Amino acid sequence: MSIRHVFVIGAGTMGNGIAQVAATSGYQATCMDVQSTALEKAKAAIARSTTKLLEKGMIDAEQKASADAIQFVPNMNAMKDADLVIEAATENPEVKLKIFKDMDASAREGVILASNTSSISITKIAAATNRPDRVIGMHFMNPVPLMKLVEVIRGLGTSDETAKTVADICKVMGKEPVEANDSPGFISNRILCPMINEAVFALQEGVGTPEAIDQVMKLGMNHPMGPLELADLIGLDVVLFILEVLQRDLGEDKYRPAYLLRKMVDAGHLGKKAGRGFYSYQ
Ligand SMILES: NC(=O)c1ccc[n+]([C@@H]2O[C@H](COP(=O)([O-])OP(=O)(O)OC[C@H]3O[C@@H](n4cnc5c(N)ncnc54)[C@H](O)[C@@H]3O)[C@@H](O)[C@H]2O)c1
Repeated sequence: MSIRHVFVIGAGTMGNGIAQVAATSGYQATCMDVQSTALEKAKAAIARSTTKLLEKGMIDAEQKASADAIQFVPNMNAMKDADLVIEAATENPEVKLKIFKDMDASAREGVILASNTSSISITKIAAATNRPDRVIGMHFMNPVPLMKLVEVIRGLGTSDETAKTVADICKVMGKEPVEANDSPGFISNRILCPMINEAVFALQEGVGTPEAIDQVMKLGMNHPMGPLELADLIGLDVVLFILEVLQRDLGEDKYRPAYLLRKMVDAGHLGKKAGRGFYSYQ
């Protein structure tokens, strides 16, 4: 099936980035969210980002016009015309399984259903559908327009054809696909989230201030961002969900989320998207 129309579910941090990159790569793009405020914010974020990219010469006027033409919708009605669906909704297993059931009912037969999940089993997500051969993980990195990697995860039943089609689409989007096995957190978050969690433990135990912890990792380990800054960029709720999945599905206490992380999520200090996390963004 030739891919023309990409339908993205979730208009948050990742969904709006994926819709933007799909549009500037020549696909017709639709972005759906259950929250109207998320759709409004996504539209504004894409307009801001593509204006900046145009000024810097990183996209041309035609690509900007394609991004301006993204459709923002509150339901799955337009999915019947889509050739690829990418889910980037909240990292919560119950939410994702329900969405995949609905996607399976709404998308045409043969259409690939991809998930941007950071940690949830693709095999489990695929089992919520009647097309496990057409379900795959397409794990974009944040911020999507700038980051090269897409971690591609096959579920137990994902077909070779699906994996090849998705790898080709990643390349059309200017990304580098890297395959990982279907294991909690895949490669990226199996390694990254325990490091972020350890930084939160260090903060909680008074080993250093947020600034000191981040400076040590930037200046001493050559990381472009410190772990607490990165946690704020990812979203503390997303990090917490991933650690919970790692702890539960790998059955190891070493992945238990730091208490401070849980407290900050409870307080709504979710990082950059909330204006406040380990740092203030007011
Ligand atoms: N934030 C990151 O850095 C990052 C990186 C890679 C992957 N991911 C993954 O991407 C996904 C989205 O994360 P995010 O950071 O964009 O989250 P986010 O909180 O910024 O956005 C999630 C959006 O999903 C919407 N949503 C919830 N239920 C929905 C439903 N039933 N239908 C449609 N939309 C629904 C919410 O309204 C919200 O706007 C998660 O699976 C996350 O693990 C996140």
